[in-house]
Amino acid sequence: MDRDEIQSRLDRELHSHGARLKDADQWKVRQDVFDEATLIALYRLANKKIISSIGGALSTGKEANIFLGEKDGQLIVIKIYMIRTANFKAMTDYLDGDPRFANVRRIKKEIIFAWTRKEYSNLMRAQEAGIAVPKPLAFNRNILLMEFLGKDEKPYPQLRLAMMEDAEKIYHLILEYMEILCKKARLIHADLSEYNILLGDRPYLIDMGQSVTLDHPRAMQFLIRDIANVNRFFKSYCDTIADKELFGKITEGIIQEP
Ligand SMILES: Nc1ncnc2c1ncn2[C@@H]1O[C@H](COP(=O)(O)OP(=O)(O)O)[C@@H](O)[C@H]1O
Ligand SMILES: [Mg+2]
Repeated sequence: MDRDEIQSRLDRELHSHGARLKDADQWKVRQDVFDEATLIALYRLANKKIISSIGGALSTGKEANIFLGEKDGQLIVIKIYMIRTANFKAMTDYLDGDPRFANVRRIKKEIIFAWTRKEYSNLMRAQEAGIAVPKPLAFNRNILLMEFLGKDEKPYPQLRLAMMEDAEKIYHLILEYMEILCKKARLIHADLSEYNILLGDRPYLIDMGQSVTLDHPRAMQFLIRDIANVNRFFKSYCDTIADKELFGKITEGIIQEP
């Protein structure tokens, strides 16, 4: 199959279900930025009826492009890790030391696929521990599908842009998530900030590709950074608990690296 063939098959697959999304046309323009491997992965997901339509972009980051999509009439989020622009050095640092990914070959594609799988599995662990995250739905190669967090077709705002009615309550909920994430899911988010928290009916943690298990040699260092970020953001909105005290509370009873 050449590129045109893949694209037209993908279009047919997506079209046969009748795209109802507002920005479905945007997708057509964007297809060009994807490599063939990504188009094939999308085609597979569409062919298996895991995606029924693709709409406008919610976010175009350096490492991932995020689209609104549909599955059986439900809104979903399609996160596509970009093979061309990924920061492989940084990704490898987070994969090394995580026993779940010890056997990943250090070639670009494999690293991105492992990263996608890692985000899926981290979201799953977080969800199973009872933390508010987007429910992961499926993954294929560099594509992750998850629950859409928002209202109508509008995503919940990032915490940095959100109107907080009760900042203190939100702050304490986030601290609770961090503690459960550490103690029950045995994960550290490792990129927690007002950018990776969406605020809807409650705060949701997102973007967990880089999250690591407690075995990671730098897990505690990442936790210290997460705590500092959360405190830095909240200190202008409410009373905050000192970094050190929080670290103690979150890691209480957990065996630490020397
Ligand atoms: N499940 C989701 N529901 C709604 N919007 C989302 C979801 N996931 C991501 N987004 C939107 O895309 C943005 C970037 O997502 P993120 O996972 O943080 O990717 P990046 O790796 O590019 O930072 C978010 O800030 C949010 O606006
Ligand atoms: Mg992010």
